[in-house]
Amino acid sequence: MGELSVSRRGLLGGLTATAALGALSACDADPVMEVPKPTPGPLDPGDWDSVRRQFLLDTAKAQFAAFVFASPPAGVRAAIARHREGLDQDTVGYLHAQEENARQRLHLAAGKYLGGSGDHVYFTDSTTMGLGLLYGGIALRPGDEVLTTEHDFYSTHESLRLRAARDGVTVRKVRLFADPATASADQIVQTLAKSLTPATRVVAVTWVHSSTGLRMPIRAIADALATHNRDLAPDRRALLCVDGVHGFGAVDASAVDLGCDFLVSGCHKWLFGPRGTGLVWGRPEAWARFRPAIPTFEQAGFANWLGFDPALPAPSASPGGYHNFEHLWAVEQAFDFHAALTRSRVAQRTTELSTRLKEGLAGIDGVTVITPRSAELSAGLVCCELKSMSPAAAVSALAAKDIITSTTPYNPSYLRFGTSIVTNEAEVDRALAAVREIS
Ligand SMILES: Cc1ncc(COP(=O)(O)O)c(C=O)c1O
Repeated sequence: MGELSVSRRGLLGGLTATAALGALSACDADPVMEVPKPTPGPLDPGDWDSVRRQFLLDTAKAQFAAFVFASPPAGVRAAIARHREGLDQDTVGYLHAQEENARQRLHLAAGKYLGGSGDHVYFTDSTTMGLGLLYGGIALRPGDEVLTTEHDFYSTHESLRLRAARDGVTVRKVRLFADPATASADQIVQTLAKSLTPATRVVAVTWVHSSTGLRMPIRAIADALATHNRDLAPDRRALLCVDGVHGFGAVDASAVDLGCDFLVSGCHKWLFGPRGTGLVWGRPEAWARFRPAIPTFEQAGFANWLGFDPALPAPSASPGGYHNFEHLWAVEQAFDFHAALTRSRVAQRTTELSTRLKEGLAGIDGVTVITPRSAELSAGLVCCELKSMSPAAAVSALAAKDIITSTTPYNPSYLRFGTSIVTNEAEVDRALAAVREIS
């Protein structure tokens, strides 16, 4: 920034002070928020029991749906509580004292986890918000095509439908395999590569399908796309955009390792970050093709608006406005938690448990495992079908035995388990015994 740069803090401080005064009178009578209970024992990253003790999850229940909406570990809860108290006690003062540093630390931690620079990350409230903003904001001309698949989640399909309705881009959905249990990485990559046309500008896929638990070979897809893009001008290349939410915090690959152009995720599923947080990571060349819809509150935005500095903010500058900062800033501690455990050990643990579960389920009469058995084509999601009852009935029957599962919100719908760092071998075995009984 040049000499005439405006202080973001100064600007926002004035606005916040007014809002805080109004809020004070309305909240005078509110009781002081209780800080969450301290966790029993410090974290020993090498001990999975110690890891599980960091969570307030009810251990009387086997938590195979914890990935749906995270319960954060002690370090994250403590950070949320600290920021919340600070903001509650002196909103503007705390905001001024913390904001710049907290944001920088957050971007740094995100950069370490995702690979590359933390400047290439844009924070959101959820995967869905990230997908909506991304697919609404990629520069596309009428006639340009987005290639997606039949296996993606509602949030991808709807974001693309809204985009197509708005400005006439074509969205084409392909089916990559008939049966996930027998699908192969080669077949998936070849089918997708054959579906590319000269008009394809975006390939919209999902890292781990929440419909079946199949993990897509993203790196191999990125390599196939690189071949397709080789002789194309930068603005005509097909960008690989990935809804990564069920791999992020569960699979041992950074965004850079995956080779995609954009990775969109919530931080409130497998990362076990604060609820209501998410991100979009993009390569710098990919962000250059993005047009933001929400003004950023970062310094460059205000400086440009006030005429102090003609440089526009980077497209990767996070959406502005006042946020639930106690949650946003505490995403840093979620990255720290995973750094302490290490991504490879988290992934290994997730896979060991899901393999044990899949193998057990496959041996039960009347159960069909839908998720690929191979660790390369799966992660922590395990989907299956019971001959004896519907997925919803199975979820209820298992809940009655303190086994918490979910159904997949797709047609067809399946019974779904998520093995993660908050589940263990004994719970997998309990789940298998319970499925045996109900089926
Ligand atoms: C593949 C996939 N993407 C996105 C979402 C939505 O995530 P969020 O709640 O972070 O928007 C889900 C399920 O909740 C999902 O299964």
